[in-house]
Amino acid sequence: MNTDNFSEEKKENDIYGKYRSNMEFVMNDIVKRLELFDDEIFESTGEHIFEHVNCRIKSEESVSEKCRKKDLPVSTESALKVIKDAIGIRIVCAFVDDIYRIIEHIRGMYSCRIVEEKDYITHAKSNGYRSYHMILEVETPLPDCYDEIPGHYYIEVQLRTIAMDTWASLEHKVRYKKDIKSGKMIESELKRCSDELASCDISMMTIRNLIKE
Ligand code: GTP
Ligand code: MG
Repeated sequence: MNTDNFSEEKKENDIYGKYRSNMEFVMNDIVKRLELFDDEIFESTGEHIFEHVNCRIKSEESVSEKCRKKDLPVSTESALKVIKDAIGIRIVCAFVDDIYRIIEHIRGMYSCRIVEEKDYITHAKSNGYRSYHMILEVETPLPDCYDEIPGHYYIEVQLRTIAMDTWASLEHKVRYKKDIKSGKMIESELKRCSDELASCDISMMTIRNLIKE
């Protein structure tokens, strides 16, 4: 098989089309800016503001499925302009107050506008899910799918503590095994764990601040 032809063909059918490389550029640029912020904090305090940052471009499969679920045409425009989480960045912090310091930093970032915010930390979801979500609209010298320059790309940023991240991973696993018998019991146990972890997160933050004093 000629792999070059195969990848060309894949590119043509790609829901993101020729804009995929621009998406990667925009995503990497924001990650880089977050890492620079962490470097600055580390230089002045000797502590990291986050533990790690992950980023991803939503797979073709999931973005197409999301279009269908929302009754949208499966198109580049839907994927990039209507669905706003094709680019995702997840920031995992050790302490809750670090999350809010990063949020304030993001508010001040150039070429970056916050178009949506959901504070599932202050207002956890009924199943126990906790995280802070932001949708950013990033302006870039690269064209977007309307071939406008500067282009505008959306990024979903999720900020959470290590404890919230651990909980979300486990809950995600459970969700894909909906057919298990003890479903209701697992749900209420998960909710209880989420509340316990949230209370630990607050205690850990208090301990950290006491050590700092
Ligand atoms: P969308 O149209 O899909 O964006 O729905 P929405 O805007 O109501 O979703 P929301 O912003 O609340 O959450 C989107 C993302 O947050 C999901 O793709 C997950 O990564 C994460 N998330 C939200 N709720 C849960 C949850 O209950 N459990 C876990 N594990 N992750 C969640
Ligand atoms: Mg959303």
